[in-house]
Parts: sequence; structure tokens; C-alpha cells
Amino acid sequence: MTRGFLARKTIEDLRADEGGETRGAGLARSLGPISLTALGVGAIIGAGIFVLTGAAAARYAGPAVILSFALAGLACAVVALCYAELAALIPVSGSTYSYVYASLGEIFAWIIGWDLVLEYAMGAATVAVGWSGYLVSLLASLGLRLPPQFTAPVGAATGIAGVTGLFNVPAAAVVAIVTGLLVLGTRESARVNNVMVGFKLAVVLVVILVGGLHVVPAHWSPFLPANSGEFGHFGWSGVLRGAAVVFFAYIGFDAVSTAAQEAHEPQRSVPVGLVASLMICTALYIGVAAVLTGVVPFQKLDRPDPISAAIDVIGLPWLAVTVKFAALAGLTTVILVLLFGQTRILYAMASDGLLPAFFSRVSPRFRTPAASQSLIGLLVGAIAGLAPIDLLGEMVSIGTLAAFALVCVAVIYLRRSHPERPRPFRVPGSPAIPTLGALACLGLMAGLPWETWARLLVWLALGMAIYFSYGHRHARIG
Ligand code: ALA
Repeated sequence: MTRGFLARKTIEDLRADEGGETRGAGLARSLGPISLTALGVGAIIGAGIFVLTGAAAARYAGPAVILSFALAGLACAVVALCYAELAALIPVSGSTYSYVYASLGEIFAWIIGWDLVLEYAMGAATVAVGWSGYLVSLLASLGLRLPPQFTAPVGAATGIAGVTGLFNVPAAAVVAIVTGLLVLGTRESARVNNVMVGFKLAVVLVVILVGGLHVVPAHWSPFLPANSGEFGHFGWSGVLRGAAVVFFAYIGFDAVSTAAQEAHEPQRSVPVGLVASLMICTALYIGVAAVLTGVVPFQKLDRPDPISAAIDVIGLPWLAVTVKFAALAGLTTVILVLLFGQTRILYAMASDGLLPAFFSRVSPRFRTPAASQSLIGLLVGAIAGLAPIDLLGEMVSIGTLAAFALVCVAVIYLRRSHPERPRPFRVPGSPAIPTLGALACLGLMAGLPWETWARLLVWLALGMAIYFSYGHRHARIG
């Protein structure tokens, strides 16, 4: 019998997966709602707020970057509600991939799984490069200098005449260390994650509170600087362009859904973790954006460590160093959760036969997908060592937005195809709200340069070649 490319998993198939009848039996259930929320916050707060906010304010939106954060947060909130509905309906690991398998069918599931590699593996590599930048800056403020050819990707300028980069060693090293931790155990990883998330949250709150006392309201006016005549440079179009840039700051909340098979009571805890982590981060982001633009004239924020610009004005040297440590801890948890999520998505795909069984092998000793985790660590470490950050970052955003749009579509589809299914959580106002969510994602994608679209198409073509030569032939469903 020939199988169609649109073979669908039934919800019964997925529930059986969830119960461990066909997969998931080896993974340990060790995460409750608090750990899941910490996992979300761990993945969310990172390079976006610590690095990108400054450029978004200085180049595109001015103080209205606050609105850019609100706008991107709103779009993500709709997507998070859609994720929450699907996570409660289909509480299996693999996130969007599994939801799409049950709604739009196999070929779309493959596309989404392949696309999520951009969000998770490339996302981890991007943030590792940001981590390396913060390490270099922290060491410099302590009077230490690393050899520049080992802190830049191959061929990149290092700022020193005649010296070009060879390999970004700190970026690859942080990936290696985090991979080691993830191999050792999910519970252990979650504990380390919880501690680092607590630290970064505390420091972000201190920045908001201390910074709040030094705000000069005059810096907020004009709140929406007039458009410069070019689309995306200030005015309302600048707010939009700013939203597309700071969208990166929200990436990662969906990682909560990749942990469904390692969660207690996933039907309840996964929606809670998704929505709670996103709400906490949105509030903090708006607070940080308000403080930064209130303390420093926005034109002066165009630097890779914009929070330091505000602290220099406030004049607290101890806080400046603490913020750099918090940024390092914060970026570490983002890498940790993204690398975790990546292997769980590959695990789900391999369990369905779309990828080799190597990716669904669980180490009996550690109860983690140790071999797959190590291979992913090796690849992501190599990419982090060799590739420039801006190229990586835009690929991450476009890949994630495409996945988010499909999640919104999957909600609408499953409401029609399975109206009778109990839904412990429902997106209000469906189909209007999920439709708006999908359109918002497409709108943000439209704001990205055409080269990024071209790279996305090349990536998807490569994925299709693998699907037809391997995945479709070995798939077990249908
Ligand atoms: N949201 C994550 C960050 O900003 C990816 O680093």
C-alpha cells in the first residue's frame, strides 16, 4: 500500500505516545509547573533583551520601542494561547511537530520539524555567539584579554589590523559544557536552570527598580520620533520594524511544550508554564525598555550591551559587573533549554520513523537521549564557532515565525476536525484570534530581508530532499 504525504496521526496515536506505549517510556517525568515556567523564562530572557533592545530603540523606534515590545508580546501571547490549547489537547513532546502531524499531515509535520531546527539548534548557536561577546566584555572590564582570533568566526574582522578570526572558542565551549549537563540528566539540568533563572530575574528586577529612580521623563519625548522618510526608521513603521527585531527576545516560550513527556500532569502544567513564562517576560521587557529609554537618550543605546549604557549613567560599578554576570547566566539558560528542546523534537520525529532511530535512543543510565544530545552539541558548537551572529539570528526569527503561524492554523483545523474532543484549555474567540495570530506572524516575517527568505527556501529544499530520500520511506504512521 502506498502511503500519502498527508498521512495524519490520530489523536489516539498521540495519546498512546504520551502514555509511553510507543515512545517516551525511557524519559523520566521530573518537571512540575514551576520548573516548566522556569524552563520557559530560561529560554526567553537572553540575547534579545541584553543585546538587541539598544539597536531597536536607536535605529528604528526610539522610546516607542516600548510599543514594539508590547506588539511583539501581543503576537506571541496569541501564539502561546494556541500552543496552550494544543498542549492540553495533545500532551506529547515534539511541540509543533506533533500538533501538525495530527492536523495538517506528515509532509507538513516534516517541514515544521525541519524548520524548528532553525529555531532550536541555530537559536542555540546564535545565543552562544552572544554569550562569547559578553564574556569578552566581562573579562576586559577585569583587565583580561583573550586572543582575538579565538573569539571571532573564521575570516571575520577582529578590530586588530592583520588579525582575522579563526574560531569562536568561548561560543563552542559554552555549548559543550551545557551539552554535558543535559546528557547527565533532565532533573539536574532543570535544577541548574532554576538557579540561573532566579539570578537573572533578580538582576533584571534590580535594573528596573534602580533604573526607575533615575528616569528623566524628558527622554521619553518625543515618544514616537517622526519617521525619517524611510520605511522602518521611526514613526509607526519604525515601531513595526522594531517589533520584528525584538521578536527574537520572545523566542523560546514554546520550548515548554517540548518537555510535555517529562512533565507531571502535562495537560495542566504545560499550558500554565507556557502562559506564565510569557507573561512574566513581557512585563519585564516593557519595564527594561522603559527604563533604558528613560535613563539614556535613545540615540546612545546603539551598542551590544545597552543595559551597561544605562548603568554608566546611574553610576553603580558593582551593578555593571553584576549585570554582565546575569547576562552570561541568562544566555546560558537560553542555550540549555534550546539544546534540550532540539533533541526532544528530533526524538519525536525519530519515534515516528521520519529520522533514524539514533535520535530516539534513550540512555538507560542517564534517562536522557544522550547520544543524540552529544551529536547536536557537536554540530551546534561547530556552527557557533564558525558562523557570524547576524546571519544566524535572522534565520532563527524566520524559522520560528513560520512554525508559530502553523500552530495557529493547527488550532483552527483541529477545532473543525475534532470538535468533540475535551479541551482542558481553549483559545478564546476562535477562529478569529488564531487567524489574527497567524497573520501577525506572517506580517513579522514580511519585515525580514529577502535574503533571509531565500535562505529559508534553500533550507526547506534541503529538508525536502531528506524527506523524500529517507523520512517518507521509513515513516510508521498511516
Ligand atoms: N529569546 C531568546 C533570547 O533572547 C532566544 O536570547
